[in-house]
Amino acid sequence: MTIVNSHNDWDPLEEIIIGVSDFWCVPNEEPGFKPPQRSGKRSDEHIDKAAIQMDNLERVLTSQCNVTVRRPEKIDFTQPAKTPFFSLAHQHGASCPRDTLLVIGNEIMETTMSRRARYFESMAYRKIMNDYFEKDKEMLWTMVPKPTMADAMYNVDFPWDINCQERKQWIRNYKYQINETEPLFDAAEVLRLGKDLIVQQSTTANKKGIEWLRRHVKSRGYRVHEIHFPDDLYPIHIDSTLAPLVPPTKERKGILVNCPERPIAKEDKERIFEGSNWEIIDAPPPNTMTVPDLCMSSAWLSMNMLLVGPDRAVVEETEIPTINFLESLGIKCIRVPYRDCYRFGGGLHCHTLDVRRRGECYNYFP
Ligand code: NVA
Repeated sequence: MTIVNSHNDWDPLEEIIIGVSDFWCVPNEEPGFKPPQRSGKRSDEHIDKAAIQMDNLERVLTSQCNVTVRRPEKIDFTQPAKTPFFSLAHQHGASCPRDTLLVIGNEIMETTMSRRARYFESMAYRKIMNDYFEKDKEMLWTMVPKPTMADAMYNVDFPWDINCQERKQWIRNYKYQINETEPLFDAAEVLRLGKDLIVQQSTTANKKGIEWLRRHVKSRGYRVHEIHFPDDLYPIHIDSTLAPLVPPTKERKGILVNCPERPIAKEDKERIFEGSNWEIIDAPPPNTMTVPDLCMSSAWLSMNMLLVGPDRAVVEETEIPTINFLESLGIKCIRVPYRDCYRFGGGLHCHTLDVRRRGECYNYFP
């Protein structure tokens, strides 16, 4: 029985994991992260409001799209944690399977993560992973080398003030608070286009992590392309910066949308996409630039949608410009209320992980 099979973001969706908001905490300050707000557990009111919207998403996918939905264990991440290299008063949460787990065909990787507070996050999916491993005899289950996350892995002089000149210089030189001591990458830095994997070097993925992925998938014919968005002063997770909407066919190019505030570096665009079957256009604007209070993401979560097939998407119901744009491309939108979830590390794409889509792995580049 094949359970794990997913090569891109658009093939017809059959099975998915949706995260949970329970026990979710804003991490404390650590070398890899400075909280922009008070750290600690989110209020029960906010956790419950998000849970209602995530449960509704589960119902919509199950009843309207015939998708099998799995949910992680509700682990108490308000607990402290200690390893030989660091200790934490509390951890983070399991709202975003996309950040942690990377599905490449029949393989699911538990990625390294880059912040200490997220070190044990993939444990919330262990029961699901075991179940897949037992039932799907072809499933590959990989743990990317667990980093120490010792102090030496971080640049302690990183300028956290997003408005200072020094910060711009660091970002323009593609230098972040994580250094190159050990491989690091969050799964959410990887955009899957069949045989081509586009990976953002960022505050959550270093070059060594990208190189680890390159060597790991090379024998299966995958190409890994490192990408940058130099105007993004807090580059984290590619899925509200570059997103595929329409795959290429013999008749027309595929469409990727790029956040207009964070254009792809010119040299990366030329190296990766010139002469390819992909057209890169500006993403439509968010409906409002105001995000819910305590949301740590940008309004560009408008791009963080979930395609359930090449002609159907699940979109946050107030993101009208995105909905209009998708419908103009012939992609029908299922509108769901989702803004209460924006306080939990992302949107519809971040909070989901497509485990099985009907389709094969194609080469979408010439
Ligand atoms: N870079 C992101 C995170 C998206 C999940 C943002 O726009 O906030």
